[in-house]
Amino acid sequence: MRVLVTGGAGFIGSNFIRLVFEKFTDWEIINLDKLTYAGNPENIKEFEGQSGYTFIQGDICDSELIDEIFKKGIDAVFNFAAETHVDRSIMYGGDFIQTDVFGTFVLLEAAKKYGIGRFIQISTDEVYGSIKEGSFKETDALNPSSPYSASKLGADRLAYAYHVTYKLPIIVTRCSNNYGPYQYPEKFIPLFITHAIEGKDLPLYGDGTNVRDWIFVQDHNEALIFVFDKGIDGEVYNIGAKNEFPNLEIAHKICELLKKPKDLVKLVKDRPGHDARYSVDISKIKALGWEPKKSFEEGMKETVEWYKANPDWWEKIKSGAFKEYYEKWYKDR
Ligand code: NAD
Ligand code: TYD
Repeated sequence: MRVLVTGGAGFIGSNFIRLVFEKFTDWEIINLDKLTYAGNPENIKEFEGQSGYTFIQGDICDSELIDEIFKKGIDAVFNFAAETHVDRSIMYGGDFIQTDVFGTFVLLEAAKKYGIGRFIQISTDEVYGSIKEGSFKETDALNPSSPYSASKLGADRLAYAYHVTYKLPIIVTRCSNNYGPYQYPEKFIPLFITHAIEGKDLPLYGDGTNVRDWIFVQDHNEALIFVFDKGIDGEVYNIGAKNEFPNLEIAHKICELLKKPKDLVKLVKDRPGHDARYSVDISKIKALGWEPKKSFEEGMKETVEWYKANPDWWEKIKSGAFKEYYEKWYKDR
């Protein structure tokens, strides 16, 4: 089976390819990635030369390139490629509309033209917006509140529209916040782990009470493979792990695991439009037979150990292009 993985040099996509090669010998992976600031050749260098693996540096918005790739035959698509950081979307929304919405349109058009066995659109729980109590079901209203989540919703519903209008076999997944190895250190957990290792202040937005549901990246990827196999075309599946904690608790957990003082945590000016709480109801995917395996305790220990063991990976990032972004975003915090 020839599988197009877009965004496979990023955090979740590179872990996905690693998992696929562990699990299957008959999947041929074509990894298409633009290598933006978030796409890292280091994440995928272990796959070089592996049989059944091809890397193409390119943009999902490039319709000629996408046509060429599909012309050679693609059985399935896992669309991970996206601009993904909420804070950046507040500064540079255009890149999000371009890649997350238009790029998905280009892929869907190619799938329509050449046919596709199954198209997995990797959406996010952020499309529901914030919820005070309880958890969102797949049928609940969609109220994204950042340029990131709004652009992801554009792609999410466009994929659905191609299922309804053109009968394409499309499944949409909406997962909660991922953590684990190879996550770009602008995101909360790897930023705080690496800052804490460096003995830097940990900038907690607002009052630190915002809640996210954290899932270990491998559990998310197992769920994607599961719905690819068992899911129903046109359906949406929430994915989550029911590890809901306020950010302050996570920050303290990181300090504890690294044996650093908790007073490294500093409250800073809040993110504009900061969603208070994300929470998804995962009973639909559970009823099909999937559930997360990794406890938060275990996953966080493994994650902290990975960043401790791989300073070359993140030091290079933090002293490179990241620095300019970080200084800009944090200058008024
Ligand atoms: P990431 O930012 O680490 O990786 C994104 C990858 O996409 C990078 O390798 C980048 O180079 C590539 N890319 C960006 N624009 C591209 C383009 N125009 N053409 C080709 N490649 C391009 O992101 P991630 O955290 O791995 O997220 C992957 C997907 O999962 C995204 O669609 C995201 O919305 C979704 N998601 C993420 C989370 C999370 O917690 N990280 C949760 C739910 C859903
Ligand atoms: P993030 O990793 O950016 O994911 P998302 O906003 O998509 O959920 O942030 C997770 C939570 O951590 C979110 O509530 C914002 C907060 N946060 C901080 O408090 N400080 C930081 O420096 C960052 C990056 C995030």
